[in-house]
Order: sequence, then C-alpha cells, then structure tokens
Amino acid sequence: MSALRLLALSGSERAGSLNRRLLEVAATAARSRGAQVDHLDLRSLALPLYDGDLEKVSGVPEGARRLRDALRAADGMLLAAPEYNGFPTPLLINSFDWLSRLQAEGDAPAGLAGTTGKPLGLFSASPGPMGGLRSLNLTRQYLSMTIAMMPVPQQFALSRAGEAFDDSGALKDAKQQAAVEAVVAALLRVAGALKAAG
Ligand SMILES: Cc1cc2nc3c(=O)[nH]c(=O)nc-3n(C[C@H](O)[C@H](O)[C@H](O)COP(=O)(O)O)c2cc1C
Repeated sequence: MSALRLLALSGSERAGSLNRRLLEVAATAARSRGAQVDHLDLRSLALPLYDGDLEKVSGVPEGARRLRDALRAADGMLLAAPEYNGFPTPLLINSFDWLSRLQAEGDAPAGLAGTTGKPLGLFSASPGPMGGLRSLNLTRQYLSMTIAMMPVPQQFALSRAGEAFDDSGALKDAKQQAAVEAVVAALLRVAGALKAAG
C-alpha cells in the first residue's frame, strides 16, 4: 500500500500560532510513522465571510475548490484549532461552510461528498488552563455532523501552550508528546484500514 496521505489544517495561521506549532508536532509524528503530510494554509484560500448574496452573484470562490481537492487527495486529516470565546474560529468554520456549498462538478464530488467518512485527528492549544478543550469538543461535533467526517476518539488539548514548546518547536513534556502520538497513531490506524478496504 502506498504511504498514507494526511492533510494538515490549522484553525489559526497567524505568525507564531501555538496551534500551528502543535500541528507541526503532530505532522512530524505522522511522518515518522511513514505518512506523507501536506499542510494547507486556510488563510491562503482567501475565502470571504460566507454571504448568500455574494454566492448568488459570484458563486463559490476558487479557494473552496482548493480545499475540496486537498481533502479529496488525503486519506485523513489532522486539525489543530484554537478557541475564541469557547467556540471554533471563524477561519475554520467559514472554510468548511464554503466547502459545503460546492456542488459536484465534472468528476469532482460535491464538497460534502469529499468530507464524508474522512478520518480526522483533533488537537487544540491555548495559553489558558483548558487548552481550548471547550471548542475542541464543539469542533468534533461540527465536523462530524453534516460535514460527516470521522474523528478518532483520541484528542489532545494542550494547555499553557505558551510555555510548552522548546526552541526547536518540540514539546518539552514527554506525556504531552505521548498524547499527540496517541491521536496520530489512532488516525493512521483508521485511515490505513479504510484505505485497505478500498
Ligand atoms: C477573540 C479571542 C477569543 C479567545 N477566547 C479564548 C477562549 O475562550 N479560551 C481560551 O483558552 N483562549 C481564548 N483566547 C486566547 C487564544 O487561546 C490565544 O490567543 C491562542 O494563542 C490562539 O491560538 P493561536 O496561538 O494558534 O493563534 C482567545 C483569543 C481571541 C483572539
């Protein structure tokens, strides 16, 4: 079987994002297990805030097709996302809301057909004591309801994330590193089984 391909997304792409750093730790763990990991910057999709009038006039922006195609090429997805006031970030929700508006085009599936059944490993990071856990649980719900992805049961919320990384970007705490590895291992197990089943 060819190497598993994972799509890595962050709910924050600001310079110095803690979630982006945590995503990189997860990506490194996946690569060390033989997976190919491709990061897609959601900000680079340049998706405007979803607006039905805009959609009526201009259709679904090209950025949504880039996300669809990246998901289509992937056997699974890694996501690290912060919480804003207890909720997933607009960058994340807006991207998937636009994706959900894409109809099938030629041999390309509708946006939601591409997400359905796709395995997912979930992470969050915050400088606070809960590590974004409240929104992590909402993100799980959001992506597994109509977006129809398949999150693995394991997840990891990194608290006090401002102090968690060393200068090389690695997690200082071996227990936290093990928690990341557990999510990645579960994701690769499920993605591998689904790929083998065809
Ligand atoms: C609008 C806003 C709301 C926030 N709300 C929360 C929150 O509810 N819980 C939390 O732990 N951190 C909250 N934070 C702090 C973020 O966790 C922190 O800015 C974090 O570094 C953002 O993730 P990033 O570093 O990946 O960009 C909030 C930050 C912003 C800008």
